Amino acid sequence: MLLVLGRRVSLSFVKRVIPQYPVLLSNPILQDLRTIKFRVIHSSTVFASATRQNTDTMPERRPFVRLPTDVYPVNYGLCLKPDLIDFTFEGKLEAIVKVNLATNQIVMNCADIDIITASFVPEGGEEINATGFNYQNEDEKVTLSFPSALQKGSGTLKIDFVGELNDKMKGFYRSKYATPAGEIRYAAVTQFEATDARRAFPCWDEPAIKATFDISLIVPKDRVALSNMNVIDRKPHPEDDSLLEVKFATTPIMSTYLVAFVIGEYDFVEGQSSDGVTVRVYTPTGKAEQGKFALEVAVKTLPFYNDYFNVPYPLPKIDLIAIADFAAGAMENWGLVTYRETALLIDPKNSCSSSRQWVALVVGHELAHQWFGNLVTMEWWTHLWLNEGFASWIEYLCVDHCFPDYDIWTQFVSADYTRALDLDALDNSHPIEVNVGHPSEVDEIFDAISYSKGASVIRMLHNYIGDKDFRKGMHSYLLKFQHRNAATEDLWDCLEQASGKPIALVMSSWTKQMGFPIIVVDQEQQGDDRILKISQKKFCASGPHNGEDCPNWMVPISICTGEDPGCTKLKVLLDSPETTITINNISPDQWVKINPGTVGFYRIQYSSAMLEGLLPGIRDLTLLPVDRLGLQNDLFSLSRAGMISTVEVLKLMEAFVNEPNYTVWSDLSCNLGVLSSLLSHTDFHEEIQEFIRDLFTPIGLKLGWECKQGEGHLDALLRGLVLGKLGKAGHKPTLEEARRRFKDHVEGKQILSADLRSPVYLTVLKHGDSATLDTMLKLHKQADMQEEKNRIERVLGAISAPDLIQKVLTFALSEDVRPQDTVSVIGGVAGSSKHGRKAAWKFVKDNWEELHNRYQGGFLISRLIKLSVDGFAIDKMAAEVKSFFESHQAPAAERTVQQCCENILLNAAWLKRDADDIHQYLLKRKAPGLNNPAPPPPFFQRGPPCIIAASAPPFSVHRWTESEHTQSRLNFSKRKNTNDDDVNKQAKNLTKR
Ligand code: BES
Ligand code: ZN
Repeated sequence: MLLVLGRRVSLSFVKRVIPQYPVLLSNPILQDLRTIKFRVIHSSTVFASATRQNTDTMPERRPFVRLPTDVYPVNYGLCLKPDLIDFTFEGKLEAIVKVNLATNQIVMNCADIDIITASFVPEGGEEINATGFNYQNEDEKVTLSFPSALQKGSGTLKIDFVGELNDKMKGFYRSKYATPAGEIRYAAVTQFEATDARRAFPCWDEPAIKATFDISLIVPKDRVALSNMNVIDRKPHPEDDSLLEVKFATTPIMSTYLVAFVIGEYDFVEGQSSDGVTVRVYTPTGKAEQGKFALEVAVKTLPFYNDYFNVPYPLPKIDLIAIADFAAGAMENWGLVTYRETALLIDPKNSCSSSRQWVALVVGHELAHQWFGNLVTMEWWTHLWLNEGFASWIEYLCVDHCFPDYDIWTQFVSADYTRALDLDALDNSHPIEVNVGHPSEVDEIFDAISYSKGASVIRMLHNYIGDKDFRKGMHSYLLKFQHRNAATEDLWDCLEQASGKPIALVMSSWTKQMGFPIIVVDQEQQGDDRILKISQKKFCASGPHNGEDCPNWMVPISICTGEDPGCTKLKVLLDSPETTITINNISPDQWVKINPGTVGFYRIQYSSAMLEGLLPGIRDLTLLPVDRLGLQNDLFSLSRAGMISTVEVLKLMEAFVNEPNYTVWSDLSCNLGVLSSLLSHTDFHEEIQEFIRDLFTPIGLKLGWECKQGEGHLDALLRGLVLGKLGKAGHKPTLEEARRRFKDHVEGKQILSADLRSPVYLTVLKHGDSATLDTMLKLHKQADMQEEKNRIERVLGAISAPDLIQKVLTFALSEDVRPQDTVSVIGGVAGSSKHGRKAAWKFVKDNWEELHNRYQGGFLISRLIKLSVDGFAIDKMAAEVKSFFESHQAPAAERTVQQCCENILLNAAWLKRDADDIHQYLLKRKAPGLNNPAPPPPFFQRGPPCIIAASAPPFSVHRWTESEHTQSRLNFSKRKNTNDDDVNKQAKNLTKR
């Protein structure tokens, strides 16, 4: 709600009656400018029944108005002088601006900055001093008032200001590091996305207000100073010869959120891409070696994108730099990409395979933004998903190109696709394209919907169009909008032109309405033909939507058969609630599968006969790994939604006993982790551990502890996953061997290989005592690499004794843990055990002020909340969580809180519904003579043949009441999802990044 003339009116009303840029509309020249820079985008297709999004119960939207455009910047001349001892900075802005309309006020963004003086010099005129600076703190704006009107035309706006180098990891902030000699020092670094450039200098901090930048930094002469562009001048400071003034080349026209500067001590490695770009990877001093892997990836990636987009990288250089204190994983600042140390540095001996893969993905992601985001920028944050969804898709294409042996697309399905489906099945999800205004609303949408659903629908679109036309469309989009801004529809137009397909119509159904369909399929053989009856319904985590206002999607559906499981036999576009499809010339014994490759963004409910036909393909591996994974994941999700019994999924899981594929195991392991976490609320938790041990023992035996000749990346990941799973579940031989190897490691007799460290640490801690914890904390202290510190931090929560859990929680907030990593220590505790869950939540409540203050409402607070409470499975905990956040506001986490409460109620309903049956099944499979044949028969031969009733049984899942609704944002650290954070993966929908 917004206060207009003292009346409360809804935001949508305000939008209708107050055009955003009323002045621009009356002037033809400015209209042109408006279409270029400030296009108001009209949605093409509106899906009336779009969503059951909780607009009625959404928290009130904070008042928000975009900046006026009567004065706008053309060039920022910006000089900053940070003080690395006092943690302050002085700034001088000389911005060339255009005045569109005579005014005696300039409104800009400004936060946490003190303006000392401001003046305006009209081109060829006299300087006019500003007479007042009126800060609107809530809106993060300042209004500069002038004694007379600034006339239409050009001029220079001069502002002197000071600010603090804060410790909140946003704006212009300080980052702590130790020199090789152990001395503590600070670097000054920036993180501006989404709305924090305004904390470093007064500016027009909106993505569509692009300008060029001339940046100078005044820095101690022994420090490295970097910015978006190359250095063009370096001279001693006239007043202080211990300082240097470093001047950088003019940037292309760009958005403020992509500006960056870094001042600190770094080493670097340098390379040249085949298309002539100088690439440097900056590392902490003495660790240049650790930059080599990222350099190799970057040097391969730039020409890959140059070729894919057929548009060259537009800057002369690109730097990639590791920053010790860093809230996100990485940030795509144009020409100066900043990374967490763990997302950039690889040590040949001490880095594990999953870290290599993560670095490759992050480099691939951020470099894609150099085109998609930086060269062409979203018009407004509503289109953020374009940036993040696209980069989250193409990073896989890039890694697949650089490392074909990673089988990275299968991993996409487990990491992004299923994660997006899980989140988007909630009533408290949101559409990909979402209206946002206030910075806290912007922060909120850096979530799994923008990233993982965004990437998944682009993958589906790419598959629907085909690579050739997709590339053609991308090329024309980048060319048409380069150095400008674009909206979702602009991309659809270009892809539509390139492919001749109804892209806008198809894609609007996926981006403008939240959720996705469940495709219900049945079949009938008629002679040589198979008739498929296909229908769609909205899938909800509590079961399919059964109301009258059920939304529909335009669903590209592909079909394959048992004859050639890897080949699509038929493609249709389902544009109605139901349809019938005929497959010709197919024998009655052939199975039919929908969605080969698991590319379409939907779940599938097969008739029991169809499913029966598909299941042998799991055991004999004739189904593709990605489809084995998809089938298992669909059934798991259906069981959580009450559409099938969880017992049927357990039986299905047993059919994976011969599974060789890492990613299939990883997804299955993740789901078992969710189940194990759920059953930790019961007194038969041990029985599910036994189930896990039985399931993982054969593959564990096959893999053993030693790496064998000829093994590759995925074998290393699989070994770590399986041994960690077995160790954690209390498999005696694994535990004994882990202890033995841990002892040797600690004593320095035999250092553990990097890939075995996480599973070993996890196993010994899970079954360890206070001495184990102390040893682990000592290893943590000694560790030189942040990767090793993080590895330990993530598993500490596995310790069982309550007093030791408390010790871990206290450690999480200590000086020994980097602020950005506190979240994963607390999350590790919450995800490890019943006691841990309670203790972590209590700890968060008791330390709320400190935690909230530390993250200042950024996305880390959302992640912390999610990790801490999502695993509860008792109704009253949902009420407790809701009530806590009513009195402890976290604006950027409102939707996350709602999603968590919804998840808690879903867990509780699931437990009530299935706990007894699961218990009976777990007991029965152990009882001699009863359903306990050895070796276990194929799933489909045991028990009743039908696992899914043709019409699903009625389900009685708690439906979210109106009053329980709210809002939130991302847990976007998902994709560090490999073996080394098994603990954090306990509740899959919490943690996949
Ligand atoms: N633009 C984001 C960084 C960002 C995230 C800024 C949230 C502000 C708020 C960057 O491109 C990004 O997406 N980084 C990811 C890594 C990537 C590989 C998914 C991250 O930080 O997790
Ligand atoms: Zn990104």
